[in-house]
Amino acid sequence: MCGIVGFIGAQQAAPILLDGLQRLEYRGYDSAGLAVYDSARGLQLAKAKGRLHVLSELVDGGAKLAGTAGVGHTRWATHGEPSDTNSHPHLSDSGRIAVVHNGIIENYMEIKEYLQGKGMVFHSDTDTEVVAQLLEYYYEDDLVEATFKVLHRIEGSYALGILCADHPDQLIAVRKDSPLVLGYGEGCSFLASDVTALIKYTKTVSYMEDGELAILTRDGIQVYDSLLQPVEKERTTVDWDISDAEKGGYEHFMFKEIMEQPEALRKAVSPRIQNGRVVLENLTLEPDFLRRLSRLYIVACGSSYHVGVVGKYLLERLLRKPVEVALASEFRYSEPLVDENSLVIVISQSGETLDTMAALREAKRLGGRILSIVNVVGSSIARESDQVLYTWAGPEIAVATTKAYSTQMAVVDLLALYFGKILGTVEESEYHAVLDEMLLLPGKMEAILSNKDDIQYFASQYFNHDSVFFIGRNVDYALGLEGSLTLKEISYIHSEAYASGELKHGTISLIEDGTLVVALGTYGKLFDKAMANVLEVRSRGADVLALTTENRRADMEKNANAVITIPETHDMLLPSLGVVPLQLFAYYVALMRGCDIDKPRNLAKSVTVE
Ligand code: F6R
Repeated sequence: MCGIVGFIGAQQAAPILLDGLQRLEYRGYDSAGLAVYDSARGLQLAKAKGRLHVLSELVDGGAKLAGTAGVGHTRWATHGEPSDTNSHPHLSDSGRIAVVHNGIIENYMEIKEYLQGKGMVFHSDTDTEVVAQLLEYYYEDDLVEATFKVLHRIEGSYALGILCADHPDQLIAVRKDSPLVLGYGEGCSFLASDVTALIKYTKTVSYMEDGELAILTRDGIQVYDSLLQPVEKERTTVDWDISDAEKGGYEHFMFKEIMEQPEALRKAVSPRIQNGRVVLENLTLEPDFLRRLSRLYIVACGSSYHVGVVGKYLLERLLRKPVEVALASEFRYSEPLVDENSLVIVISQSGETLDTMAALREAKRLGGRILSIVNVVGSSIARESDQVLYTWAGPEIAVATTKAYSTQMAVVDLLALYFGKILGTVEESEYHAVLDEMLLLPGKMEAILSNKDDIQYFASQYFNHDSVFFIGRNVDYALGLEGSLTLKEISYIHSEAYASGELKHGTISLIEDGTLVVALGTYGKLFDKAMANVLEVRSRGADVLALTTENRRADMEKNANAVITIPETHDMLLPSLGVVPLQLFAYYVALMRGCDIDKPRNLAKSVTVE
C-alpha cells in the first residue's frame, strides 16, 4: 500500500523515480506523482490518477521534469478519493516543501482545523497535506528542526519523504510503523518503501527504525534517533538480483511465481534438513519453555492465516498441545489469553501487515514470546519478533500469494517436526517419513506444473461460472480456504470455502443446477466422506471438479464431473501439493476472464492500514 521512492545524486531523478515506482506497483495503488527539484525551475510537481503509465506519459518518461533530486509516490487512497489532487506529493502553502507519505495521520483533522484557523489553505482531502502544511508552519530555516516539531505533533503511522526547495541538496526521511529502506550508491542516495525499488541501483541498504530521521545527500546518509543523536546504521547487502523482481519472459508475475515454487521450496527446506534432522537457524527456544507451553497461537491475515489453519492440524497432531489460530485483525481486540508461557507464531509474507504487526505487539505486551515466519528480510515484523524464520522465497510481486504460501507452509511443517522432536511427541518413524517426503516435494510440484495444460482445459470449461464453492475436510478444508481466496481475488468470481460437513447446515440451499463445486479429497483418512459430499452436491445439480491423489483418481472419477490429481505424499504435506493446481486454476480462469491478474482491483500487496 502506497509506495515511496526518493533519489538524490548526479543523474536525472525523474526516470529513476518512475522506474522505482514501477517496481513498487505490486503494492497496490490508484494514482501516482513526482516532485523533482532543479535550480533553474525550482520544485516541479506532476501527479496523475490511474496507472503509472499515465504519469509517465504526462512527464514524457521523466524528460519534462529536469533535476537530480526528487521524491515519488504511488497512492492507495484512504483519505479522499483517488484523484490528481489527492495524489502525492503534497506541497506546503508556499510551494517550497513537498511531502510523500505512507501510513495514516490519525489526528490530521484537528491539525488541519488549527492551521486553517491560522489562514492556511488546503487543496486536498488527504491526511498527508497536513504534514506539508505543518512543516511550513514550523519552518524557519532549519528543515530538520521543523520536521522534529511535526513528529511531536502528529499521531499515527508514517513513512515520509521530504524535499524542500530551500535545501535542495538533501532529502529527509522519517518512519514510524511504515517501512522505509535507505540505499547507498556511488555519489547518490536512495529511499524506498522496499528494496525492490532500488535493487537495480544498489544492493547496499539499511532499514530505518521507528522514530529515526535520515538526511540523504549525494555524499551519503546520516541517520538520527528520536533525540537527534547520530545513529550508526548497520548496512546489509541484498542477496537477490534484479531479475528476481522482473517477469523474465512470463506474461504475469503470478505465473512466474507459481512456476518458481519448486525452487523456492528447495531453498526453504534443503538447508534446514541436515543428517536426517531439522535444523532451524538461530532458533533458541529452551526445551523447558516448550514443555511449559499450555497453548500455541498462530496469528496472521489472509493467505498467511490459511497457512496457520493447516498449521493447527499439524502442530496439534505432532505436539499434542492445543493450537489457536487467529485472524490478526480479531486477535488484537479480543483480549487474548497470552502470557509469558505462550508462544505466538506470527506469519507474514511482507512482514509489514498492520493488523499482524498490531497483534504481535499486543502479544508481546502480554508477555508472550514471538516467533515469526516472514519472507521480507529486515521487515518490521521480523525486527520486532523474538525469533524469526525466513521463508527465503525471494520477492513476491503478484498480489495473489503463491510461492510465499508454499514456503510458509514448509517452514510450519519443519517447525512442527522440530518442536515434536524436542517434546518427544513425534514418533521417530513419522519424523523421518515426513522429512523424506519434504525433500521430494519440489520434484512432485514440478510434475504437477508439467501438467498445467490439463488445468488450463478445466479452467476453460468453468471460467464462466458466477459462483463457486470449495469443500473439504481437515487439511482439505484449510486448502479450500486458500483455493477459494486465490480464485476470488484475481478472477472476481464469488467463491466460498466450506468445511464439507457444514454444508447441510445452511449453505447447501445454494447448490442448484450448474453450481460449480470444487471438491477437495486429498486427505486419505476422510476420502469416503469426501466422496459422500461429492454425491450430495451432485444430486442437487452441482458440477463437481474434484482434487484428489493419483491412487484415488479412478474412485473419484465415478462421481465427479472432472478430476485433477496430485502425486501421493505424506498426509501432513498434502496442502503443499494441493495448492498448486488450485493456483493454476485461479490463474487460468482469471486469464480467460481478462482480469488484471498481478494487480487485482482494490487490493494491495502489503496492507499497511487497518
Ligand atoms: C492473498 C494474499 C493476502 C495476504 C495477506 C497477509 O493472496 O496474499 O491474503 O496473505 O494480506 O499478508 P502478509 O502475509 O504480507 O502479512
